[in-house]
Amino acid sequence: MKYEMNLFDKNNIEKAIKANSSINKKELFYILLNSNLDFGKENNVISRHGWHSFPAKFPPALPKLFIENLTQINDVILDPMSGSCTTLLESVYLNRKGYGFDIDPLSLMIGKAKLQNINKLEIKEIGNSILNRAYKVFIYNKNDLEKELVSRFDKETFDFLNFWYSKESQLELISLILQIEKIENQKAKEFLQLIFSSIIITKSGGVTLSYDLAHTRPHKVKNKTINSAFIEFNKKITKILNNGYIDLPENFELNEGNAKQLSLPDNSVDLIVTSPPYANNAIDYMRAHKFSLIWFNFSINELKNTRKKFIGAESLIKGNIKQLPELTCSIVSNFKKINISKGNSVERYYSEIQQVISEMYRVLKPQRACVIVVASSILNGIDIRIDKCFKELGEHAGFELVHIGERNIQRDKRMMPISRNSIKLQIENRMHKEFVIGFWK
Ligand SMILES: C[S@@+](CC[C@H](N)C(=O)[O-])C[C@H]1O[C@@H](n2cnc3c(N)ncnc32)[C@H](O)[C@@H]1O
Repeated sequence: MKYEMNLFDKNNIEKAIKANSSINKKELFYILLNSNLDFGKENNVISRHGWHSFPAKFPPALPKLFIENLTQINDVILDPMSGSCTTLLESVYLNRKGYGFDIDPLSLMIGKAKLQNINKLEIKEIGNSILNRAYKVFIYNKNDLEKELVSRFDKETFDFLNFWYSKESQLELISLILQIEKIENQKAKEFLQLIFSSIIITKSGGVTLSYDLAHTRPHKVKNKTINSAFIEFNKKITKILNNGYIDLPENFELNEGNAKQLSLPDNSVDLIVTSPPYANNAIDYMRAHKFSLIWFNFSINELKNTRKKFIGAESLIKGNIKQLPELTCSIVSNFKKINISKGNSVERYYSEIQQVISEMYRVLKPQRACVIVVASSILNGIDIRIDKCFKELGEHAGFELVHIGERNIQRDKRMMPISRNSIKLQIENRMHKEFVIGFWK
């Protein structure tokens, strides 16, 4: 690669491009990976990105940088672990087609609702009418709501509910969800489901007895003042509708799917921008998302099974471990000598990442870029060399490494777990920075 980072004003990509008007896409990719990827001072609470919190979501400017510079209008952009669909949303903002897959039902639910257009007047009307009806039932028909609570959930799910929700909140939420279920207009229904979920998954745990759901670290708070679900629901709708909502081209495909096996043809994608879960289950999505999903008829037991399918989930399925290339294999073996059970998790993580990277290589067109964002990871005081291992796994799959950029994590912006009462959580030691790994096919 003929360009050195210090030749350029690090924050001024345009200058670099102008100075080298003949640069090709791969060289441009190198320049982008060397630019400032912190996106620190931007206001990310723009448009639809802020409708529902989601741990470790991208700053929108990150996928935007690569989509804008490396692809053209109508190109296909893929995120095989799409989470809250930041990549897809940025793709459609830029008139590209966004493809996404995820295995978390909440990701799929909120992703779809964020990518669809709504009719503001209809939402106002339907929102008001279900709020009124739900409130009336709550005031006058509490007995019916109590019966519904008992018949709707299995024992394990009901126990969970009783542990984490006050009786009052349970009645408010069941009353709201019963009205939402009756909505015939599908898009309005899905939007209001997002609103419903967004008042549960919050840092303060809004309508639950927990705190820190948005960081996937729920803990029960004694004597918590709980917000009224009706008021929160109304506030959230009003906030979104008054916040400059605009229609977008509905140019996306979002499906349930495992990133290890994508239902896409070979050589069909123009760019991949993605971020896998962090090693060793550092952010446990299901632990928090079940607070919302139980209201959408998922049982706790069902969600336990979904959790097992997560990349790097703790439970080890022995037969499925793939042989790892040399360096990654030695890092795993050394780690196992210190902590066998965590070592097994790291092995499973890298083995699954290997499958995901191979699958991304298969679906990407030749002469195209793949961007993988992943946090550094220190377990038991040992750096498991995410950068080196991802590089090796990518090259093993056939990719060429263009560059590994680095970005500092803004904990508050990316919804990372934070320390409480000055006790540092282990996770904080693990995730200071993220690697932005640039592969070329
Ligand atoms: C770090 S998050 C992605 C966040 C996303 N970049 C955003 O901006 O919202 C990782 C995602 O990977 C998903 N995931 C985990 N295992 C998966 C698998 N086997 N197949 C597909 N998605 C998976 C999780 O559900 C989660 O949504």
